[in-house]
Amino acid sequence: MAHVVTSVAEVPAAIQAAGRRPPCRRVLMASPGHFKVESAINPWMRDEQGELNRVDTARAAEQWRALRAAYERIAIRVDVIDAPVGLPDFCFAANQSLALPEAVVLSRMANEERRREVPYFEHWYREHGYRLLLLPDEISRFEGTGDAILHPGLRLIWGGIGPRTEEAVWHFIARETGTDVIALRLSDPRFYHLDTCLCLLDERSALWVPAAFDAASRALIEAAFTRLHAVSEADAANFACNAHCPDARHVLIQQGSSKTVAWLQQAGFVPLELDTGEFMKSGGSVFCLKQELP
Ligand code: ARG
Repeated sequence: MAHVVTSVAEVPAAIQAAGRRPPCRRVLMASPGHFKVESAINPWMRDEQGELNRVDTARAAEQWRALRAAYERIAIRVDVIDAPVGLPDFCFAANQSLALPEAVVLSRMANEERRREVPYFEHWYREHGYRLLLLPDEISRFEGTGDAILHPGLRLIWGGIGPRTEEAVWHFIARETGTDVIALRLSDPRFYHLDTCLCLLDERSALWVPAAFDAASRALIEAAFTRLHAVSEADAANFACNAHCPDARHVLIQQGSSKTVAWLQQAGFVPLELDTGEFMKSGGSVFCLKQELP
């Protein structure tokens, strides 16, 4: 029976028992048409003076197009869902759902500001023939792949518990999809989603921000990955862990994280540096801007 793993002793068995998962071949991106910073729902959305960050809409559109083109260059198909008016965070397509091979789990956004995004994704999935899994009413917080990272090559989920996602959802998802979940507790408000402090590269390699986790969670990560790179403070603040490695080789990453990029190269990965600066003003980078589709 699939379950939620919380102890180091269970990690090797969960890895062993997990079935194989093919590499990512297709992603869903949400157009940045109405992207803005309208209110601060995470610590990155204000400048030093405490003012809301100002987004340059034209630059954001350009950066988004470059990300899309980067996926297409490495042979990943990109589907696009159009942004409705009045939903400034809609472009962060990682958060409204978690698309698993068994079913798509729709999110329950922690902030009122983002709740209206989910029905648009629901509609898109229905139109495209996906099976949906609806959360029970008791679950009040779940933000999709912001807090759910799929283990490369395996049918195994790393699940964040923090400001945006509550623990109970992992028991539900493990039970309903038959997928083990290794649960990690986030402990630093700057790293409010798991995808801001953990980036899985291949079956045994990952980038992470150790200080963003409690001690028990750090031990779980250390038990699973033999090649772990703790990113520098500067790279962590530059969203280095919000990179995306869809194929265990190419790593799409915010430009300027020089130490992380050097580590990736010596470890045999191919970093593809991109500018997501406008989206970082809202607390997100590469990983947040897409949903992997099975
Ligand atoms: N402003 C958005 C929010 O706070 C950014 C989401 C970034 N997404 C992510 N997966 N980290 O909800």
